[in-house]
Amino acid sequence: MPTIQLEITSGKLAGEGVITAQKKLSQLENVFQDEATRKSMDQDQLIYEVQAYMPVEEGKEGGLYFGNSTIFPGKVNNEYFMTRGHFHTKLDTAEYYWCIQGKGALILMDEEGKTWLEEMTPGSVHYIPGKIAHRVANTGDEKLVFNACWPSEAGHDYATIEKDGFGARLMEVDGKPQLVQNKKE
Ligand code: F6R
Ligand code: ZN
Repeated sequence: MPTIQLEITSGKLAGEGVITAQKKLSQLENVFQDEATRKSMDQDQLIYEVQAYMPVEEGKEGGLYFGNSTIFPGKVNNEYFMTRGHFHTKLDTAEYYWCIQGKGALILMDEEGKTWLEEMTPGSVHYIPGKIAHRVANTGDEKLVFNACWPSEAGHDYATIEKDGFGARLMEVDGKPQLVQNKKE
C-alpha cells in the first residue's frame, strides 16, 4: 500500500504525513502592488492552499517532496491572485510543476531580475531550473490547480522576493493578462 494517494482529477493529496497550509489575504502583506486595495478587501479571503508530502527531514540531501497547490480566482485591483514566490535557499535546485486544472501563468525570474512566463493549462509540464525564482498566478475564472516535485534540500528563500520583488507583475490590461515590467527606481 502506498503511503499517500493522489486524487487524479483534483490533484489533491490524501494520507498520513500530508500537511496543508492556507494563505489568506491577511497573510499576503506587500505581495500585491496595490497594498491599499488589498487592505480594503475581505482579509479572510483564501488566496491559495498548499499541500505537501515530505517523507524525509527538511534539508536532507537526496530526497524528494511532492505537493499540490490551489490558487483561487480573483484579483487585487488588476493584479491576479498569486503565490508569494521564492528562490530555493539552496539556489541551484530545480523543480517540476504540472498543471491539473484551470488557467494561469508560471512567472519565472533569474538572479538579474529578468522575468518571463510560461502559460499553465491542464497537462502543461514546467521544468523550473535551479537559480530561478518562481510564482504562479491564476488568470482564469475557476481555481488553478497544479502539482509540484522538488528536492528535500531545496528550502525556500522568501526574503529576497519580499525585499526586491519580481522584475514584472502579471496584470489584467484591456481584459487580458499582461506581464508589466516594474519601473526602475
Ligand atoms: C515548492 C514550491 C511550491 C510552492 C507553492 C506555494 O518549492 O515551489 O510547492 O511552495 O506553490 O508558493 P509559495 O511557496 O511561493 O508561497
Ligand atoms: Zn519552489
